[in-house]
Amino acid sequence: MTTAPSSDTNVQDNIQDYLDNGLRSLWYPVAASWEVGSNPVGITRLGENLALWRDHDGTLHAIEDRCPHRGARLSKGWNLGNRLACWYHGVEVNGEGEVCDVPAISNSPLVGQNCVRRYPVKEAHGAIFVYFATTPDEQPCELELPEQLTDGESYGHFLCTATWKCNYQYAIDNVMDPMHGTYLHSDSHSMAEGDRQAEMVLEPTESGFIFKKTGQTGVNFDWVEYGNSGALWLRLSIPYQKRFGPGGPFWIVGMAVPEDKNNTRVFFWRIRKVSGWQRQVWRFFYRTKLEQLHWDVLEQDRIILEDMAPDARDHENLYQHDVGLARLRRVMLKMAKQQLAQRQQAA
Ligand code: FES
Ligand SMILES: [Fe+2]
Repeated sequence: MTTAPSSDTNVQDNIQDYLDNGLRSLWYPVAASWEVGSNPVGITRLGENLALWRDHDGTLHAIEDRCPHRGARLSKGWNLGNRLACWYHGVEVNGEGEVCDVPAISNSPLVGQNCVRRYPVKEAHGAIFVYFATTPDEQPCELELPEQLTDGESYGHFLCTATWKCNYQYAIDNVMDPMHGTYLHSDSHSMAEGDRQAEMVLEPTESGFIFKKTGQTGVNFDWVEYGNSGALWLRLSIPYQKRFGPGGPFWIVGMAVPEDKNNTRVFFWRIRKVSGWQRQVWRFFYRTKLEQLHWDVLEQDRIILEDMAPDARDHENLYQHDVGLARLRRVMLKMAKQQLAQRQQAA
């Protein structure tokens, strides 16, 4: 005889299911700026289809990628500046999600209706950010990002982005786990050094916490920070040997964005504290020598994560080095619980 699942189990499953699609009330980078040119672009993020396009002056629009006529993807259509025209029968929808024209018939009652969802969108640091609300009438929160991005005088960056075939929580776990650097990336240009054992501790910060090795810093991937300041971000630094030029350690600010439950778009800003001519030297050096080395490291992460079973997280034996990721999982679970409750209240 099988036992019916308890209602507690159902609630837990619902929360996990919600979390697997991505937390809301947050800004997410959804594409690199260079990915959206003059043609509309269709993307899937947090399980939702979005159409992105630029107006004549470069201003971005983001709306639901669904034609209100019969559901064709608007991103397959034409960019008319402040609106898109559907490829299928020409219905035009503007950046507010309002139908502006139904060219195939006169006096359509559809004209003037706001029947396509619009998303708040902004562009910063080479990426397009979209706000995903928990409830329909929610206003977007402020977006603040780490100083390594906002202080463009002192820091220079390259944005790299890739799609990994795994749930985004695996990508977050991976960055919240500094100890993997010494093993998975032991043959890399920047993570070959240091102890292969460590005691790790958590330290609270204003917007999250730091998870770090005790007794070793500035040698390898020795610490990582999680922060929530309108977007969920992870930050770390890895020391660079002198032969990699001026600027001290190499910084990474990373974000993992769910496309859907099984695919993640990762964004990593690769940053160095360099200005003036030193920045030019570094940019040249990065493009010619370092970039491929970094892609090689990222490829190691991708292979490990994509080959893990989708339910790997249900069969773990965590140890002390996993305290950081376990803590973040609890934080995210709590957010998911709150957001589900908000949705139920608003329904
Ligand atoms: S489905 Fe878009 S105009 Fe018909
Ligand atoms: Fe890694």
